[in-house]
Amino acid sequence: MINRMNSIKISKAGRLFILLILLQLTSSNLYAQNLLIPIETIHNALVLQVENNKDLNIVYFGKKLASSTEYNKIAAMYKQTGDYTGQLNSAYTPAGSRNLVEPAVAVTHADGNNSLDLRYLSHTNNKLNENVSLLSIRLKDPVYNFEVTLFYKSYFKEDVIEQWTEIKHTEKGSVVLQKFASANLHLKAGSFYLNQYHGDWAKEMQPEESKLSHGIKTLDSKLGTRANLFQPSVFMISMDKPATEDEGSVLYGAMEWSGNFKIDLELDYQDNLRIIAGMNNYASPYTLKPNEIFSTPAFLYTFSTSGKGDASRKLQSWARNYKLLDGKGTRLTLLNNWEATYFDFNEQKLAELLKDTKKLGVDFFLLDDGWFGNKYPRNDDHAGLGDWQENKKKLPNGISSLVKEAQNVGTKFGIWIEPEMVNPKSELYEKHPDWVIKQPKRDEYYFRNQLVLDLSNPKVQDFVYGIVDGLFTKNPTLAYIKWDCNAVIYNAYSSHLKNQSHFYIEYVKGLYKVLEKIRAKYPKVPMMLCSGGGGRVDYAALQYFTEFWPSDNTDPLERVFMQWEYSYFYPAISSSNHVTDWGKQPIKFRTDVAMMGKLGFDIVVSKLGENDLKFCQEAIKTYDAVKPIIWQGDQYRLSDPKENSVASIAYINEAKSAGIIFNYLVNYRYGAKSTQPIRLKGLDPNKKYTIKEINLYPGTNSSLDGAKGYSGDFLMKIGFNPDVNSGRSSVILKIEESK
Ligand code: DGJ
Repeated sequence: MINRMNSIKISKAGRLFILLILLQLTSSNLYAQNLLIPIETIHNALVLQVENNKDLNIVYFGKKLASSTEYNKIAAMYKQTGDYTGQLNSAYTPAGSRNLVEPAVAVTHADGNNSLDLRYLSHTNNKLNENVSLLSIRLKDPVYNFEVTLFYKSYFKEDVIEQWTEIKHTEKGSVVLQKFASANLHLKAGSFYLNQYHGDWAKEMQPEESKLSHGIKTLDSKLGTRANLFQPSVFMISMDKPATEDEGSVLYGAMEWSGNFKIDLELDYQDNLRIIAGMNNYASPYTLKPNEIFSTPAFLYTFSTSGKGDASRKLQSWARNYKLLDGKGTRLTLLNNWEATYFDFNEQKLAELLKDTKKLGVDFFLLDDGWFGNKYPRNDDHAGLGDWQENKKKLPNGISSLVKEAQNVGTKFGIWIEPEMVNPKSELYEKHPDWVIKQPKRDEYYFRNQLVLDLSNPKVQDFVYGIVDGLFTKNPTLAYIKWDCNAVIYNAYSSHLKNQSHFYIEYVKGLYKVLEKIRAKYPKVPMMLCSGGGGRVDYAALQYFTEFWPSDNTDPLERVFMQWEYSYFYPAISSSNHVTDWGKQPIKFRTDVAMMGKLGFDIVVSKLGENDLKFCQEAIKTYDAVKPIIWQGDQYRLSDPKENSVASIAYINEAKSAGIIFNYLVNYRYGAKSTQPIRLKGLDPNKKYTIKEINLYPGTNSSLDGAKGYSGDFLMKIGFNPDVNSGRSSVILKIEESK
């Protein structure tokens, strides 16, 4: 056979052909070591690979390897069923060509064709500073002049990645984007557990954990505004087994977007998890002109192999360092009048409340809803929204006189607004019906008797900006804004927009434009992000706000649970917690719970008994002394209220030399108490500490011996018993290094 082969005469053309084959073999051999693009943070790696055909796929997501040369050995270790498309692990799955699963992007080209393919063109990696890098990867359709750039902004120390996309084309006409995800991830594990949240007014952040089965589980919102009311975009995915506080592999994800979102979690037929997250494409096909750039919001994720607690500390620290407005700054304590007066107040009453603010010892007074509207006075929630002029009956001398009065008594003044909204009973509605979101031919339908203004309209944007700017221009010493948003969008329709499919997206972009303009002029004035409670908490909005309002439910027992869940994603400094009359707990319990964040009060100070008032006054001083640890320290969840009779949460400073530990009885059955010591975390095993009870109610003594010393080793291995019981239902401890 060999001889015969040898004897075969090869023609010139044949030789050329063989040469070409050989060349191809060598070049594909080169490509066998496909180009890898690892995105590495201090502990983790997301590794992308450019395939021979220039597909961009994800070959690894998880704990990073010691040697990056070994990432290309990973794929061979998996003997899963075949991939019929070669792109199940696509870094950004295009629809309509080979794809058989949920796409990240789907388009209708200018010529009406629905197919898309995306191949790697080039990438650049920029180190923005010591800790932050920005990788951008250009992908292009080989057939159409259609491009996508993927962006990965990685925060090394915090193990956080923000991912978003830019889409553009130069086709001969507009392209319709049918789907436009921010990110597309691909995870490999034996099984996946989803921790998601659901809720409603006063019931925000209810956790639910389940094992993901094959098919698609979708987390989404179609509410337009107040988008998180029933379901926020934050979630966790545990890999192999449900992660606990300190063990297990877990990914946290969140959309940085304050409107409709959609997160598809697809367990595919190979048993891998595909995560596709972005703005919701519901009712929103987007027409993109040639050369226009469509940018998606960022999808944010972090990953830990040391449990939920570690992941949350990374996220909290990232938020304080990079996202939350003034995350490393300070915050003001306050007295709010909402629950003390509701709509029923006047200048005299407010003057008294200003004095109470001073007496209590908080930093400022916050005037809530009900101060505006004349033709249609805002005396309940049926009228007046939109008419932001002081009500002459209630406030004959206007806001300015109250701001001055505040100064006179030695406090500051803040104010509530809900600038995106309008009551049909308002002058604004009468003057500008075209500014209101409603279907021209259908009946209006109300949420809290109100409608939403059309923020896609630049005139409305100017109006909303003008409300804030007007308040500050007239009252330069105004200390604070509470920005409320109580309605969802029904009958989505803008009389300004030509293309109604752009409405939901343009609304949110309009909102951000206004907030951007406000922050350009008033960079640091504290503003609370409120949405009838926690209906709109996300990291896109929190770039403009210093804090958020988790819920109108301020029952402290409920809040222990709710704040626990919020804290997985948001740092204590961003959580506005107010002491109110909700719930049955004593004032100490209520105040202690509110201290685990940004403390405020919404009570009638004049009705407090002598000792209650004394307690609150002292508590504010105590809080002022320890708040840097709560706001900037590392949070450790020590005892879960869902599993134990006692909830325990600690905040430990960076030097591990001081901390505050909050403990609450959450089970009121007979004999429920802290039977066992609670193991501390985050201490230095070699340091010695003392633990002292603080924030005691007047006339009570602590049952704990604050002079005894313990090693960090002891406290983390054995623990400490805060002695919580029905007589001591709330106990705050201060732990300090003893030298
Ligand atoms: C809903 C908010 O969550 C409350 O705190 C209060 O500001 C009311 N709106 C006022 O209408």
